[in-house]
Amino acid sequence: MSAPLLRLSNTRDHVLVVGDSRHTQRVLGTLSRSGAQIRLCCVAPSPALADLIVDHELDWQPRLITPQDVADASMVIATDTDAAINTVARNAARRAGRLFLDATTGRGDFELVESAARPAARDDPWQHAQVCLVGAGPGDPGLLTLDGQQALAGADVVLYDRLVAPALLDYAPAGAARRFVGKQRGDHAVRQRELNALMIEMAHGGHRVLRLKGGDPFVFGRGSEEMIALAEAGVATRVIPGVTAGSGCATYADIPLTHRGIASSCQFLTAHGRHGELEHDWRGLARRDQTLVIYMGVMALAHLAPRLTAHGMDPDTPAALIERGTTPEQRVLTGTIGSLPQIAARHTVTAPAVLIVGAVVALRDRMRAGAPLSGTIADHVATAERADRH
Ligand SMILES: C[S@@+](CC[C@H](N)C(=O)[O-])C[C@H]1O[C@@H](n2cnc3c(N)ncnc32)[C@H](O)[C@@H]1O
Repeated sequence: MSAPLLRLSNTRDHVLVVGDSRHTQRVLGTLSRSGAQIRLCCVAPSPALADLIVDHELDWQPRLITPQDVADASMVIATDTDAAINTVARNAARRAGRLFLDATTGRGDFELVESAARPAARDDPWQHAQVCLVGAGPGDPGLLTLDGQQALAGADVVLYDRLVAPALLDYAPAGAARRFVGKQRGDHAVRQRELNALMIEMAHGGHRVLRLKGGDPFVFGRGSEEMIALAEAGVATRVIPGVTAGSGCATYADIPLTHRGIASSCQFLTAHGRHGELEHDWRGLARRDQTLVIYMGVMALAHLAPRLTAHGMDPDTPAALIERGTTPEQRVLTGTIGSLPQIAARHTVTAPAVLIVGAVVALRDRMRAGAPLSGTIADHVATAERADRH
């Protein structure tokens, strides 16, 4: 017969916990969230348990249990790594007619089940803001933050970009105005200056204006330009970060941006600025112990690849182009910095795409299949690992 569940929620029960193991921490966590009165008997707590005792100000007795400990409790939970200690606790509970659970085996008179967790109360993002700049993430609606969702729920107007997942607009109230203000190359739906003026006008008109931007507002997102314009107009603005495309797309493509021994730094860059192609410290970018994450990747590839190899980057350096990352249409093309331009042309990759360059790209296969790496990519990773050991 299975043990009945004991649901703990705001219980004031006295619970005696005995022993020390990884189960102790789980049990104490569940009990302390329920508000139970806990006494812990444990002779020599591990450092992790000692921290918990201090954090939760537990009634800790550095000894084996006594008949009085058991009498004071309505239930006893044994958690020790030593089965003999748990048996002593069970026998004492039985003698005193108390409920008993051995949390290391799950056997006893009850199971410990946490009541549905209540999320912590969050500040209203609109409390001190007339405009919220919210990062929507790179495409998957699941990557919106809780603060972003809450801000959307309180918005009067949502001004959104092209790369924002349409599903996110559903978080705004039904009566909120939704307006597309995105830009496509050569087709600026609303120019930046007009957009700033629009936000200022709406905020001064008493509307809560939510500017929903792809990725993170402060990573190649002009969020700072908008915030400066709003500040100059005396509009209180809050910015809520989002998952930037470089990070979200890499992770969804199983490419770590850093990896011990292979890449100890990561640079986010774009090859194109307001006035065309940008110049960079190409020699610095060509270093092998780092990862490059290049936004506006389709345009960047043709411009960047020859410059990087001309400045010393090994043409066999692994590279990946991630198109429409984190969406159901995500496509990942991998190759090397030498071969990827031709591969991308063959597959007619279109924006949005991020380009990732570095040995970490080769870890994708290793992480996915546990398969050994092969050919020049394996050599590249092995060299990077060797270099790190010296
Ligand atoms: C103007 S930037 C905006 C970046 C954004 N603020 C961020 O933090 O991700 C647009 C570039 O972001 C990248 N991007 C955005 N969403 C993407 C996606 N779903 N897949 C691949 N790249 C994406 C592309 O490189 C695109 O050209």
